[in-house]
Amino acid sequence: MLKMQRRAALALALLAAPLATLAAEPVKVGFLVKQAEEPWFQDEWRFAEQAARDKGFTLVKIGIPNGEKMMAAIDNLAAQKAVGFVICAPDVKLGVAVNRAAKRHGLKVMSVDDQLVDGAGKPIADIPHMGISGYEIGKQVGQGLLAEMKARGWKPDEVGVLRVAFDQLPTARDRTMGAVDALKAAGVPAANVVDAPQAKTDTESAFNAANIAFTKNAKFKRWVAFGLNDEAALGAVRAAEGRGIKHDAMLAIGIGGSQTAMNEFTKPTPTAFYGTVLISPKRHGYETAVAVYEWATAGKQPPAVTLTSGTLMTRQNQAELRKQMGL
Ligand code: GLA
Repeated sequence: MLKMQRRAALALALLAAPLATLAAEPVKVGFLVKQAEEPWFQDEWRFAEQAARDKGFTLVKIGIPNGEKMMAAIDNLAAQKAVGFVICAPDVKLGVAVNRAAKRHGLKVMSVDDQLVDGAGKPIADIPHMGISGYEIGKQVGQGLLAEMKARGWKPDEVGVLRVAFDQLPTARDRTMGAVDALKAAGVPAANVVDAPQAKTDTESAFNAANIAFTKNAKFKRWVAFGLNDEAALGAVRAAEGRGIKHDAMLAIGIGGSQTAMNEFTKPTPTAFYGTVLISPKRHGYETAVAVYEWATAGKQPPAVTLTSGTLMTRQNQAELRKQMGL
């Protein structure tokens, strides 16, 4: 009898062993972003962490400012036995390299924010993607500017339109062209649109780009400005301030709605940073992390493309809106 009990205990212990190993080594999912210092990406990471806690996996966050660091990060994930990763690459043209590295290591990969493309500039079909509907959100930027121009009694043909441009990134081009098209449809002359190409997607690069554009176009006394994100719009605002163009003569609307925008909205006096289209780092961070986890562990393939929407946020409605969005 005693012998049988012992045997049963042994069998149970053997059965439990693989479970114990599983519990000791949680599933790892990577989350690689091109600009870790940007508040948008910090927010995405924060919500991805929340997903990891809710679902019981470990999130591995790595900043990948260039292609070399990106490749090293993917190898590093494989060495850590991660099951897959979410990526916003430093250059979307690295798509083929990302896909190849992921396949070589047997990692699931999904892109966020910036859709990866192949050598011909075509989206890579087998990498699922979640991003914003760039052109539509750009149109919202343009419409927000038009509404405030009207409220101020500015005539469409007297305003300079500063497009802080980063055209090598398709979503950046879509966003800013959406804004341009909305303005043009309302009677702003195409000739008033001034392109200010930025070298990187941060505030400093936008500031430098805007400065050059303002110098070359001193004929405009009133301006509206926008770019792919809040940092681009803010760079334009700071450059304008440096030339004495303040909030009564300038209107900028960004895209994002994270800390960069909040810093402006909470200043005691309004700046020319009039608004931002609030988009959802919660959806982008949380949902992509869960999607990769469930794809790798339960075979649930994410939808090919998911596009998220946005809402115009200004000083007036910021507190309420951010609460609604769980931010
Ligand atoms: C791009 C931009 C970021 C942010 C995201 C949102 O990656 O560079 O600043 O706007 O899109 O999708």
